[in-house]
Amino acid sequence: MIPSPPLTPARHALRGRAVTFGANPFLDDPARALVYEPDALILIEDGRIARFGAFDALRDTLPPGTPLTHWREGIISAGFVDTHVHYPQLPMIAAYGEQLLEWLERYTFPTEARFADPDYAAGVARRFLRELLRAGTTSAAVYCTVHPHSVDAFFAESARLNTRMVAGKVLMDRNAPANLRDTPQGGYDDSLALIDRWHQRGRQLYAVTPRFAATSTEEQLDLAGSLLRQRAGLFMQTHLSENLAEVEWIRQLFPRRGSYLDVYAHAGLVGPRSVLGHGVHVDEDSFHACHAAGCALAHCPTSNLFLGSGAFRLFDALDPRRPVRVGLGTDVGAGTSLSQLQTLNEAYKVAQSTGRRLHPVQAFWLATAGGAHALYLDDRIGTISPGMEADLCVLDPGATPLMAQRAEQCETIEDLLFVLMMLGDDRSVRATYVAGQMVHDRDAPAG
Ligand code: GUN
Ligand code: ZN
Repeated sequence: MIPSPPLTPARHALRGRAVTFGANPFLDDPARALVYEPDALILIEDGRIARFGAFDALRDTLPPGTPLTHWREGIISAGFVDTHVHYPQLPMIAAYGEQLLEWLERYTFPTEARFADPDYAAGVARRFLRELLRAGTTSAAVYCTVHPHSVDAFFAESARLNTRMVAGKVLMDRNAPANLRDTPQGGYDDSLALIDRWHQRGRQLYAVTPRFAATSTEEQLDLAGSLLRQRAGLFMQTHLSENLAEVEWIRQLFPRRGSYLDVYAHAGLVGPRSVLGHGVHVDEDSFHACHAAGCALAHCPTSNLFLGSGAFRLFDALDPRRPVRVGLGTDVGAGTSLSQLQTLNEAYKVAQSTGRRLHPVQAFWLATAGGAHALYLDDRIGTISPGMEADLCVLDPGATPLMAQRAEQCETIEDLLFVLMMLGDDRSVRATYVAGQMVHDRDAPAG
């Protein structure tokens, strides 16, 4: 059980190596985009970063008596941002044998049906958020189930932890079992009530969440678009062009639309703060349309490999002539890990399979500042700098004997980041802070 905040004093400071970003390393030289401070001081006040810089330069400015934690071997980073994940699918991670559409029928829908029980939902929400924090992830865009209380369960636990989360009730009025279907009007009314209960309450943010075009009628998609216009600052999340059989099905269901993306655009669902999961099989016109609309794609490499969906063309999406916002998603339960380090490992391999090289600075940017940028939250999370919310993780490059011996060979911070992303996982997360509070301490005695 994660202890309830606050346990850490409102003003405290961290010392250690720190990595963050001053620019986008897909648009700028990675060496210039990386901000590396080999001995940093981070002063935290009331949940925000008050000062960040070299320890030697700032030590004399520390208010007297400020408690200081020195992470000698650690690397302090902004907390990771997961831009696409399904909390109700935690119990069915690693389900054998199927590709997307059969996997949904055989494993996903029966698992999500269990969320009819509010106690079950509350238990999974607690375990899920604890796992996220163990992995160093402090913000995520999260699908709940069709049941409104699955959203209450998630936001209640997130509010207790004070994590900044984006989440919403799945809308699904066709091509799903009867016990998981809503109706266009019922889904709209339930979503609006949830929005008024949770959106912008503390750090919680609401995402209108039509599952994907196959499970929503045109009427439901149109109502989802109208829902988005009811309140300021809402998000939208759905799936796009993940699998070839799915793409063909959407073509048959929406014969009048020019593309899969156009199905959503026509309903008013594509714009800033829209997050489209996958985009494995999108063409240049759709990348261009995403750029123009300001929506984001969530790259989910462990899921795409696990379900055999295909290889996302990350560098085409990020083409500097018309860059699309891209974040990383674990997509658990189709994804095989909640760790962004493991997700970067697979992102590197997927990029290799398309003939491209994902630089470790680009990789860590995607997992932090890039995810925040994709969600239009980069003014609050994703980097270490004064004024930002103090969501941080402390990475341990020597977490296992294998990593320790490999880390010893590293001569640069870039080398070390690469070792972390290829060999690291939740074992490499020494501690996690949310709004300045320590919410995970890997080495704390169990109890
Ligand atoms: N497409 C529609 N629903 C889902 C889901 O739950 N997971 C994944 N990976 N793709 C989907
Ligand atoms: Zn998904």
